Amino acid sequence: MSLFETGLDCIVLNGTVVTAADIGRYDVGIKDGKIALLAPALALANVPASRVIDAEGAYVMPGGVDAHVHLAEPELFGKGRSVDDYTSGTRSAIAGGTTTIIAFAPQDKKDSSLLIALDDVHQKAVKNTYCDYSFHMIVSNPCQQVLDEFPVLRERGISSVKIYMTYEALQLRDRQILDVLLQARTHGVTTMVHAENGDMLSWMTEQLESRALLAPKYHVTSRPPILEREATNRAIALGQLVGAPILIVHVSSPQAANAIREAQTHGLPVFAETCPQYLFLTRSDLDQPGFEGAKCVCSPPPRDGPSDLEAIWKGLENGTFTILSSDHCAFLYDDAVHGKKSAISEDAPLGRFKYIPNGCPGVETRLPLVLSATRLRPQRFVELTSTNPAKLYGLYPQKGALIPGVSDADLVIWYPELEPFPVTNAALHHSADYTPFEGHRVCQWPRYTLLRGELVWDRDNGGIVGAKGVGQFVHRGRSAFCDEQPPWDVDQY
Ligand code: URP
Ligand code: ZN
Ligand code: ZN
Repeated sequence: MSLFETGLDCIVLNGTVVTAADIGRYDVGIKDGKIALLAPALALANVPASRVIDAEGAYVMPGGVDAHVHLAEPELFGKGRSVDDYTSGTRSAIAGGTTTIIAFAPQDKKDSSLLIALDDVHQKAVKNTYCDYSFHMIVSNPCQQVLDEFPVLRERGISSVKIYMTYEALQLRDRQILDVLLQARTHGVTTMVHAENGDMLSWMTEQLESRALLAPKYHVTSRPPILEREATNRAIALGQLVGAPILIVHVSSPQAANAIREAQTHGLPVFAETCPQYLFLTRSDLDQPGFEGAKCVCSPPPRDGPSDLEAIWKGLENGTFTILSSDHCAFLYDDAVHGKKSAISEDAPLGRFKYIPNGCPGVETRLPLVLSATRLRPQRFVELTSTNPAKLYGLYPQKGALIPGVSDADLVIWYPELEPFPVTNAALHHSADYTPFEGHRVCQWPRYTLLRGELVWDRDNGGIVGAKGVGQFVHRGRSAFCDEQPPWDVDQY
């Protein structure tokens, strides 16, 4: 019997369906949690289905894949402790149209195995999420045992690691980075690099502290673009020496973006990520009365002004950036123990920037902010926020695509039209007590989110309608962007 006779589980009628490749008016049929078919608009109007959603001509896209989300992490970046756990973070994700997140499993430097951290995040996430999820390992102690575990990671569906060139608790030396890169290349693991020069940073911080320049705005002064550019260039060179692909995360400055573009022009497998904070925030957001600027403290920091923001938008348009993630890393503002205010003391009433927990919430605002800016072609928007993260991290085509019989029926359905309105923290679903994007105007918000065919977000009828625990761990393969046999010549360039 055909699907037209047996019926479908769900039909999304009359959408403007957008994928990374195409845009057009279609109906989407869903069966057993998978995309079953795409048909010309309204062709499925009379097919029986348990649920019918009229998209009324609005954009229908594959659900967002946010490949950079920090949840339930311990104190890695000073005294700060993430306020979002796997429940609140993924609740916020689906309300913002994201159906898959990749969070982090941070290795404690004292541990000589990665598997302790991996088991720990599995325990935290299982039965607690509103969307599907996976993990990147944060490698802080790449001893021989840890390197030997890379094939085990692959067996367990983990195909990416993050390493840091800064932060005392995490920073690796160059030779340790080489060890990780070689092992990653050998076992089809993608290496994400936090590229800031940690020694330059601690020297700059001492200089500022010795002059009593402590307020939140000096966080930006302590991390000038050259610090990011140097580390980016070094990461590219280290990757080139080994012939390993790298992904530079949360790129903030035109200088770093230019270094990446040059490497790409020479054919090196260098990929890059940026985030909404580098499209919408500048250093003036950290220069607020009192301690308010701490809300926008993240690393790398927002840059100087409009020309920096413009350069990052250009990088999204011209292909320098492969993916756009949130780097959601939420701390309470008004919490003197584990939040931003833990940096305030009696002798420093405006806080000491070096103690402000680094990171901002953003998993829910990522898609609406960027779509509302109407800078990117809709297909490019889907590519950067869903398809490419799925390809880069071995989730494709289960995620990030709408291939009948193959892709999960993860969808975000927007409004045909919406009056512009300001983002307010009160309307968000994370546990943070602020958003750095308060007051930014948007003209779009997800109307419906579907996870494997189930309606989990219905903005006008109950909001969160999915249940905690419906999210599943997704076993990942190797990156679609990294060939088994590297074709590049490491002696060139
Ligand atoms: O400031 C940031 N980006 N915090 C999150 C941790 C990280 O390095 O991504
Ligand atoms: Zn980072
Ligand atoms: Zn991060």
